[in-house]
Amino acid sequence: MIIAHGPWPPAPDPDISNRFSGDDDAIRFGRALFHDARLSADGSMQCATCHEARHAMGDGKPRALGRRELDRNTPALANLSGRRWFGWDGRSDNLWAQSIHPILNPDELAQDENSLARRIIEEADLARTYLEVTGRSPVDDPPREVLVNIAKSLAAWQETLVTPRTAFDRFRDALAEDRDVPDNVFSRSARRGLKLFVGEGRCSLCHFGPNFSNDEFHHAGVPHFTRNGSVDPGRHGGIGKYRASPYRRTGKFSDEDPESAARAPGNFVVRSHDDWGRFRVPSLRNVAATAPYMHDGSVADLPAVVRHYDEINMNLFHEDGESLLRPLGLDATGRADLEAFLRTLTGDPVTATP
Ligand code: HEC
Ligand code: HEC
Repeated sequence: MIIAHGPWPPAPDPDISNRFSGDDDAIRFGRALFHDARLSADGSMQCATCHEARHAMGDGKPRALGRRELDRNTPALANLSGRRWFGWDGRSDNLWAQSIHPILNPDELAQDENSLARRIIEEADLARTYLEVTGRSPVDDPPREVLVNIAKSLAAWQETLVTPRTAFDRFRDALAEDRDVPDNVFSRSARRGLKLFVGEGRCSLCHFGPNFSNDEFHHAGVPHFTRNGSVDPGRHGGIGKYRASPYRRTGKFSDEDPESAARAPGNFVVRSHDDWGRFRVPSLRNVAATAPYMHDGSVADLPAVVRHYDEINMNLFHEDGESLLRPLGLDATGRADLEAFLRTLTGDPVTATP
């Protein structure tokens, strides 16, 4: 069980729906665009306004602050390649499609495809780099194509954000080779916490694999009412948005061949009542650097996360849905151990400066 949470870092896994994936020019363009406020309609906001290197590519706030406070927490961007779903509700099945949402959202960069294409054409340096990366002048591309190519460049850069190796990885690799590491690398308390994590705590039922996520959607006992009293539909809404999007892996803007696109997970999605209030299982890599937690930022720090699972409120689950979770009833040592283990999943800060 423990060895299955590695090795780290994972082998490169290019995005076959994005012809710029792994392309150096596109990666440089994407990095520059991510930090360029000209990408927003009024020049006041950039991707890095919310995804900041000093906050591990999140914003350190409970909920994102766009042109108003949004309903959801800003995810820390890292380890994005190879994922099946993006967004807390899995509204996108690829990274460039996910990158289109903030460009068009009126509460974020607030562009439409026409205003964005005009901006790229008017700013000489952006138009020149666009031509270098895509081989076409933005004047000759339809606006929607410009939007997609900008998003694919942004995605090419975001794919390069990978969290570093951690104390857990050193322990895991040693275990795989039948060696051990000293206690000052991986403490006794962290070892007991890891045992809880893969054992009676049942955390690894959902937080599984090298990225500590099974890439699926679950209800983790977080209430899904928003502050104004409405309900966040979670995965139920995400499936609707996904189906309505022209930017799926099976769509005409994808660079994937139709045969492999036909096997994309999105083709097999069935929506059920149980999807209400489900959210994507987040990765736990770098977790000590990405507080506050959960889709609504409602859990402040790691001790509070451990308390949440320790005392989980079973009344929050659907009556008809079975739950993988149940209160753990840990003592103080157990809680400290679980927290100590979670802290071993964080290494040096992700370096993502422009
Ligand atoms: C106003 C703050 C804000 C800005 C600006 C912003 N984001 Fe985000 N980002 C968020 C929030 C909040 C989410 C979670 C959205 C959701 O799931 O509902 C998110 C989610 C994402 C995700 C999905 C991550 C995951 O783990 O599934 C990606 C990728 C992303 N943003 C990239 C970008 C890019 C690229 C830009 C610029 C074009 C951008 N963001 C601008 C707040 C922001
Ligand atoms: C049934 C699947 C499931 C199990 C079991 C589970 N989790 Fe989670 N976990 C989730 C989901 C889903 C979320 C996001 C919930 C939300 O935002 O509403 C989450 C969120 C988290 C977060 C916050 C991460 C972030 O970036 O916001 C941490 C930390 C965490 N879980 C740790 C644990 C630990 C420790 C255990 C074991 C005691 C555990 N989880 C068991 C599904 C699960």
